[in-house]
Amino acid sequence: MKAIQDLRMEHDAVRLTLKVLERIAQKLEQQGTPEDPRHVEQLLEFFTVFVDQCHHGKEEELLFPALEQAGVARDRGPIGVMLREHELGRECVKKMKDAFSRIKAGIPQSATDFARSARDYISLLNQHIEKENNVLFPMAERQLSEATLAELSQGFDRIEEQKIGIGKHEAFHKMIDQLESDYLK
Ligand SMILES: [Fe+2]
Ligand SMILES: [Fe+2]
Repeated sequence: MKAIQDLRMEHDAVRLTLKVLERIAQKLEQQGTPEDPRHVEQLLEFFTVFVDQCHHGKEEELLFPALEQAGVARDRGPIGVMLREHELGRECVKKMKDAFSRIKAGIPQSATDFARSARDYISLLNQHIEKENNVLFPMAERQLSEATLAELSQGFDRIEEQKIGIGKHEAFHKMIDQLESDYLK
């Protein structure tokens, strides 16, 4: 069960960063420019590397294929929905990156655009995580054998090394702690 537990823990980290993003979007709307642009850059890197390449990579490359093999429908079932939502998430991150570039270039309305895409991303990902935690993961825990779950766990470690590397993983967790204390306490 370690494989699924690891994904749940990553969801907790993602939810925390979404709360930080909400605060940053709020302040941006009020002020037009970010208090600290590095924080926005850090978050955007986290959403691209940790969330999309690493976490969604583990789900798309390993968990979903294992579920399909166990008989869970892809196209008209929960896996298809999850894949579509990952895709929508990518689009939101791209829009946030574009809006952030426009904010830095001093183009009016960009902060409002950023905040809109940020809120789309927050609500998309929060409900996506709910579905995975409450529907898809319990399904995986019921339907996948101990051996498959152990293989997944090894595969997850491999993806993590390939996509972010051990040192960077630690750095992301430090970054989350720092942002949490700056914005949520
Ligand atoms: Fe997902
Ligand atoms: Fe997930």
